[in-house]
Amino acid sequence: MEKTYFPLDRMRAERTPFYYYDVKLLDNTLETVRRTADYPGFHVHYAVKANANPEILKRIAASGLGADTVSLGEIKAAIDAGFPAPKIVFAGVGKTDEEIAVALEYGIGCFNAESEPEIEAIEAIAKEAGKKAPVALRVNPEIDAHTHHYITTGLAENKFGIPLPMLERLIERCLKSEWIEFKGLHFHIGSQVTDLTPFKILCERINELQDKYKGIEFASINVGGGLGIDYDDPDKNPIPDFRSYFSIFHENLKLRPGQQVHFELGRAIVAQCGSLISRVTYVKEGIGKKFLILDAGMTALIRPALYQAHHKIENLTSTSSEEVVYDVVGPICESSDTFGTDELLPLSKRGDLIAMRSAGAYGEVMASSYNCRVLPGSLFSR
Ligand code: LLP
Repeated sequence: MEKTYFPLDRMRAERTPFYYYDVKLLDNTLETVRRTADYPGFHVHYAVKANANPEILKRIAASGLGADTVSLGEIKAAIDAGFPAPKIVFAGVGKTDEEIAVALEYGIGCFNAESEPEIEAIEAIAKEAGKKAPVALRVNPEIDAHTHHYITTGLAENKFGIPLPMLERLIERCLKSEWIEFKGLHFHIGSQVTDLTPFKILCERINELQDKYKGIEFASINVGGGLGIDYDDPDKNPIPDFRSYFSIFHENLKLRPGQQVHFELGRAIVAQCGSLISRVTYVKEGIGKKFLILDAGMTALIRPALYQAHHKIENLTSTSSEEVVYDVVGPICESSDTFGTDELLPLSKRGDLIAMRSAGAYGEVMASSYNCRVLPGSLFSR
């Protein structure tokens, strides 16, 4: 029922490469999130970093989610799309004075602070503005999320969060401050987490901390994002298993009365609704190899080059029943500009439309103009 339907006539009229978004799938995903996160005190934010396309943001804002941001640019994009400022949280290890001042002025819901000098900067800026800043502390929980090393964030060696041994002193510092309203604790263990066990371990770690700091009020616990998706079979699993994900937190987190739990999901919300659509520029014969050279490269979708990620590749227009093995590559002058090696695809020809599936998250938003390429556009289902 959820299988993505590609409107080929509309696609043929578009300049490639572009991102195609199945907005019905996005809406169904959002509806599933709403239904499965319906536990007392649960608040879901969308991690804007996954996809900041204004149309996508508007739909997500309209569904009632909050926003998780990491720069002033993202805060502005979220506000423009209709997210109310109090539902915006602001994370990141390097918030600048300007970003802090403007976010404070907007009245965002929470700064997730990651270091002592950042707490000092927030305090000084709040004092100058005469306005208390809502602050939670991002804790480095030292949990291995078993994901690609570029996207794990909760290990002691990562730059993210406050190391556990420093936490108590910094909580005290926030509590003493006249210019900080201390909100609670923030965590994020990593991204594309498909085995849910690390989330259970996170709950246990949070329970231990809540026991340790019994006398301290944590109005909110933010558990971050990270729920992974099925890159191999997007049509079989178009909507991630949000039910199991949220129930892990419901069952394992020992919340105090009235305590809020915040989530910051990016990939799980937008990945499956997006595909990168490109055309075959050439079919090239190599020595013992055939290359499909596309007009999209790592500048349109950098995940394969950067994380050795694999997106399912489909030829949308070939009518051939013959199958051929190809290396599917882009036009960029880098060897890592490869989407797949030894891909079994229907016999393909110059001009065929190729879809790179599950590209709605960290796709369009990470595109660059390296080699002076034009940024990919976007097309939406009706
Ligand atoms: N919260 C924080 C503090 C984060 O750092 C992230 C992602 C999220 C939430 C959202 O995580 P998600 O639910 O999307 O897993 N570009 C990489 C992923 C980088 C993720 C960075 N942080 C990729 O293409 O796989």
